[in-house]
Amino acid sequence: MIFSVKFLCYLDVLHDIWIYCRYVFSGTSSKVSDTTSSNTQDFHNIKQPSNHILEDLLQIELPRMIYTKPQILKPPRCDVLMMTPWFAPIVWEGTYNSEILNEQFQQRNDTVGLTVFAIKKYVVFLKTFLETAETYFMVGHRVNYYIFTDRPEEVPKVALKEGRNVVVLQVQNYPRWQEISMRRMEMLSYFSQQRFINEVSYLVCVDVDMKFNDQVGVEILSDLFGTLHPGFYTAERRSFTYERRPASQAYVPSDEGDFYYMGSIFGGTVMEVYKLTKKCHEAIMVDKANGIEAIWQEESHLNKYFLYHKPTKILSPEYMWDDYLGRPEILKKRRFLAVPKNHAAIRNK
Ligand code: GAL
Ligand code: MN
Repeated sequence: MIFSVKFLCYLDVLHDIWIYCRYVFSGTSSKVSDTTSSNTQDFHNIKQPSNHILEDLLQIELPRMIYTKPQILKPPRCDVLMMTPWFAPIVWEGTYNSEILNEQFQQRNDTVGLTVFAIKKYVVFLKTFLETAETYFMVGHRVNYYIFTDRPEEVPKVALKEGRNVVVLQVQNYPRWQEISMRRMEMLSYFSQQRFINEVSYLVCVDVDMKFNDQVGVEILSDLFGTLHPGFYTAERRSFTYERRPASQAYVPSDEGDFYYMGSIFGGTVMEVYKLTKKCHEAIMVDKANGIEAIWQEESHLNKYFLYHKPTKILSPEYMWDDYLGRPEILKKRRFLAVPKNHAAIRNK
């Protein structure tokens, strides 16, 4: 049975009241100077709440926990890897129970930050992005949408549910789309330290040329998470498109690497995202000084980072899909989809 945090806090408060009453009414018996022995005494002497109080609490505070029992000998998915060799879960439909996860998350009263960059013409993607996020992203939880843009006046007004806010952060643009893409690391690290750390518990950092198409909830949250690239989840290590030139800070030798991660969706606690984005930005700046740019810009640096700082959770390609890749059998849901775009008309404009 899962005891709710509220219930445990309740017991804690009862305990504190009891200690206080004993202190007030027992005259000199508890000496502040000998805290260790007085704590030990308190612990041994504490009077437990009477049975009828406990029963009341149990009835009021404990939710019913009705769901199918986990089966040790029948894993929910036999067709895909559910756990990395470093014990990070890989999130696929069927491997988790949203009700349990939502119940746990609700008790923590956390807010999730969703960061998105809408620079230059990319503002055209915002409306669909936000509307579909309102339908599918962290439903029932508090969300701050952080929209980085150079065109704040072009951010569309979208109706938001309770507990959800849009925060527009005005930032500069750059002439090349590659530069715009890479500079996201710099801006994310700066704002993580300046602002996000005070406002949210987790950050989910995504591309804007995307739409939500099914539930994306708290199952994705963890200290540090990355997402399997939809084009490479079955590929061999040698065909991963890591940066292969040793001159770049993003270099990964051909006999190393776990997965090829997509740069379009990653996240974690604000502290972990800060560390990741800062490190990637620094590596990008070293490359720049050396006159080299990694093959897939910040995605190459992200892949290097994840090789040495293993993610604590990995999202399956359900969380980053492109219909151009068809509908393989293992894909039970397509939660976050690339929106087709005319590259020439959008990039650099
Ligand atoms: C492409 C994708 C690029 C990059 C590349 C890596 O499919 O559009 O953004 O991720 O794969 O090889
Ligand atoms: Mn994209």
